[in-house]
Amino acid sequence: MQLDWDVIVVGAGAAGLFCAIEAGKRGRRVLVLDNGKRIGRKILMSGGGRCNFTNIYASPDNFISANPHFCKSALSRYTQWDFIDLVQRYQIPYHEKTLGQLFCDDSAKDIVAMLQQECDQADVVMALSQQIMSVSSEEGGYQVRTATHSLQCQSLVVASGGLSLPNLGATAFGYQLAEQFGLKVLPVRAGLVPLTWQPSDKAVFEEISGVSLPVTAEANHTLFAEDMLFTHRGLSGPAILQISSYWQPGDELLVNLTPGQDLVGFLQSQQQQHPAQELKTTLTRIMPKRLVEKLLALKVFQNQPLKALSPKSIERLCDSLTQYVFKPNGTEGYRTAEVTLGGVDTNELSSKTMAAKHQPGLYFIGEVVDVTGWLGGYNFQWAWSSGWVAGQYC
Ligand code: FDA
Repeated sequence: MQLDWDVIVVGAGAAGLFCAIEAGKRGRRVLVLDNGKRIGRKILMSGGGRCNFTNIYASPDNFISANPHFCKSALSRYTQWDFIDLVQRYQIPYHEKTLGQLFCDDSAKDIVAMLQQECDQADVVMALSQQIMSVSSEEGGYQVRTATHSLQCQSLVVASGGLSLPNLGATAFGYQLAEQFGLKVLPVRAGLVPLTWQPSDKAVFEEISGVSLPVTAEANHTLFAEDMLFTHRGLSGPAILQISSYWQPGDELLVNLTPGQDLVGFLQSQQQQHPAQELKTTLTRIMPKRLVEKLLALKVFQNQPLKALSPKSIERLCDSLTQYVFKPNGTEGYRTAEVTLGGVDTNELSSKTMAAKHQPGLYFIGEVVDVTGWLGGYNFQWAWSSGWVAGQYC
């Protein structure tokens, strides 16, 4: 293997490949190192195998970071429309599933094949199944020692991702390297991840696992309106994955089980039209039957004919259903999390180039940086955007 490179990129994921392509197009001699056997492994398994590759509504508001302004520059210089153009140039069929989320019609393999072809055209060299033993800075660049080679480069780009899915090759490499060079790393935790039951709630709710319904889920002054799913382990579904990135251990989760309805008005009109109908029957018109039965068993309401309900009891019932409080025990952790929150402190990086401010030639891009997107294609857009800008300078 050639030992001397202009750029070494660590990580053949979305961000690393995109950066390598851009640097290669500039004539830089680029080597991509990865510990896995193939490139783009997370891309391949993303979006249920169809890769939700971007979101047409992507904007800085869809990202979580200690510095919410940091992502603005990269996202505005390489936008979702730029990536959609690329996908269209490769004639990859895609569709909008919901809420601006774009998925491949056929397979995530189409995106990886596109990236591979772009890498080939830019003369990017891949070295897969590599184990990096050490990195040191030297005159004019970096030395990267793998199990088999001692490599040199002028620019070192760290695109090694976060800690989610350790069985897919995730390591703490990027965080450790940042610390080795004196960059601050903000605490990391699992995001876009199912929440788990307290033991007492598990006994109560595991019976209704499989039940799914539209809700709003709220924690820490943030609210998402999507579906929620009861599972054996806890709560999941898009609403819960989204709110999990804002929920902190110990927090309550406030769930509206009947969102988008005037519940008081609905119950009052049902009371007038069907005074003899049982409340349980009425509630099954707006919520899954198994959930209604569980709420009855939990004494959230008493089953009685609608005509027996006083205006006060209707109000109380509406409050209980629209502000149902869950107290999750924790999250399923990195084993199932889609992303890692926190990471390399953006104060250490230039938002224009993604380079470390005080360590020449060192770049951090993608998920390893303290920028985390919502569910819905935003994390890939951050990978493309941050990779693209770094690729213009590294
Ligand atoms: P990424 O993790 O993709 O790549 C890092 C690479 O570095 C990996 O190949 C890893 O093996 C390698 N590496 C790590 N340590 C190393 C070391 N020490 N030496 C060498 N190589 C090393 N997002 C989205 O927008 N839409 C979606 O549909 C989905 N779906 C989805 C599903 C699942 C199951 C998960 C887990 C995640 C998603 N995501 C997603 C999130 C998205 O996959 C993620 O944010 C990006 O892949 C991050 O891209 P990066 O290139 O930063 O890291």
